[in-house]
Amino acid sequence: MTTPYGLKGRAAVVTGATRGIGLAVARALTEAGARVCVTARNVAEVERTAADLGGRGLSGDVSDPAHLHALTDLCVAEFGRLDIVVNNAATNRPYGPLMTVDPLDWRTAFTVNVEAPLRLAQHAWRAWMGDHGGAIVNICTEGAGHVGPNVGAYGTSKSALLHLTRQLAGELAPKVRVNSVSPGLIRTEMARFVWEDAERRIADSLPMGRIGEPEDIARAVVWLTSDAARWVTGADLVVDGGTRVRAAWAGQGSAVHEALRARTPGADPG
Ligand SMILES: NC(=O)c1ccc[n+]([C@@H]2O[C@H](COP(=O)([O-])OP(=O)(O)OC[C@H]3O[C@@H](n4cnc5c(N)ncnc54)[C@H](OP(=O)(O)O)[C@@H]3O)[C@@H](O)[C@H]2O)c1
Repeated sequence: MTTPYGLKGRAAVVTGATRGIGLAVARALTEAGARVCVTARNVAEVERTAADLGGRGLSGDVSDPAHLHALTDLCVAEFGRLDIVVNNAATNRPYGPLMTVDPLDWRTAFTVNVEAPLRLAQHAWRAWMGDHGGAIVNICTEGAGHVGPNVGAYGTSKSALLHLTRQLAGELAPKVRVNSVSPGLIRTEMARFVWEDAERRIADSLPMGRIGEPEDIARAVVWLTSDAARWVTGADLVVDGGTRVRAAWAGQGSAVHEALRARTPGADPG
């Protein structure tokens, strides 16, 4: 019997695991006892991360179906099992008003943010989880619950991922639990364009008084994948420092939206 948060003996695949939230998740799963198989596009970063964590790595793009298949095969071949999938890799492009968005770029957002998580869930189900069970966590965003300036493609695709999470939770129960974690603003490269020049103002606008750190999200993911959450499926765990409840907070503000609005549409956000 493992401790409530213990993952000893389990094997996990984490996408987008070389920096930011994905790296923190892969590290936290490792510290909880799991063996991890990590992926991202940069070959050297994947090798470094896998070595640091004592895990395995395979570089590639999650929009490539063959890569997701190979990743699943690698995990099962190396560890003999695949108990946990964390769909973390994502794109926040195209950025700008929807009337100026190229529909082909829009499609790429859905390929990376929605189709890839579905494909990886399918591979994991067929390779291991369908017979043995498991837990899948999809990283969504607090922003999927409302609209915001210039983030229409990102928000729409993440809303679809939220729906996919609940649909899969129903279809795969009771063998596999499927949940999501929805972060607020976290100190990572993807979100640097939002927090870098406005961190104090944004922190002051949040009920918890600071922006998030990748480890805030990693702790939530570890809990959801552990036996402590054994009766939790189809849930979305919002980890946002109170972003969503700030309208009821004495010092309410909307500094994140102001930072998004200030960016030039079409400019590279990341
Ligand atoms: N940061 C925030 O404020 C925030 C808020 C809400 C939700 N989120 C969500 O949290 C997740 C992680 O974001 P983050 O902020 O940690 O991002 P990040 O710091 O930019 O890290 C992204 C990771 O994903 C990899 N990656 C990106 N595109 C990929 C692709 N197509 N195929 C494979 N790997 C890919 C990157 O490595 P390579 O570039 O080498 O591929 C990197 O390892 C995302 O789902 C994001 O939507 C973030």
